[in-house]
Amino acid sequence: MTQRNIIKAKTFTNDSVKSLNSNKPLPGWMVFAREVLRNPKAMGTACESSPRLAKAIANFVPVDKPGYVLELGGGTGIVTEALLQRGIAPENLISVELSPSFADYLQHKFPQVRIINGDALHLKDLLGEDSERVHTIVCGLPFRTLPHVQVHGIVKQVDDITSNNSGIYIQFTYDLSGKAPFLPHHFKRINHKIIWRNIPPARINVYNSER
Ligand SMILES: C[S@@+](CC[C@H](N)C(=O)[O-])C[C@H]1O[C@@H](n2cnc3c(N)ncnc32)[C@H](O)[C@@H]1O
Repeated sequence: MTQRNIIKAKTFTNDSVKSLNSNKPLPGWMVFAREVLRNPKAMGTACESSPRLAKAIANFVPVDKPGYVLELGGGTGIVTEALLQRGIAPENLISVELSPSFADYLQHKFPQVRIINGDALHLKDLLGEDSERVHTIVCGLPFRTLPHVQVHGIVKQVDDITSNNSGIYIQFTYDLSGKAPFLPHHFKRINHKIIWRNIPPARINVYNSER
């Protein structure tokens, strides 16, 4: 596997998130914009989520369940931050992020959260035994712009993890229709919300994956 797992990284080695002439980290929107230029299909949008959207997502996450909340596609950490503010303990939060720049940025911003620089396509390998202790997955991956084969592979991993644990799956998307053609039928939508004050407006879908 080629993914670099930076769980145990103690020092901040990647200069890619620092300003050219100082040690100050770049602002999140700038890191985000650079990734959009580098890999637009993996981003699926030109802007970070708004704090309003992030808070609405976090409000759907149960705070009293034992185990982990798993975030897919942490980006610059807007949703990660909202999850922490919601009351998820940092040691119970795991964020998987494909981009090394974002992963470094996240690890710097949230030193107590386990940040995994890797592809959600390999979730179970990345998490090992901890995949059995995930009770909620929060997914910000741009399924509409990623290749279909990759989306189906990621959904298979999500399905294995949530179905085994009777977990909750929360997906936010810019498709406001509520359709989710890539999800297996046993995913039952139990809640949803549209956030208009986001660029672009977004829909949060909450599923129970119990078979
Ligand atoms: C729409 S952005 C969301 C970023 C952030 N959660 C937010 O709401 O602002 C999508 C994120 O998914 C990440 N991503 C795309 N494909 C991925 C994959 N296969 N595995 C893990 N992360 C991925 C991108 O690098 C990006 O950070």
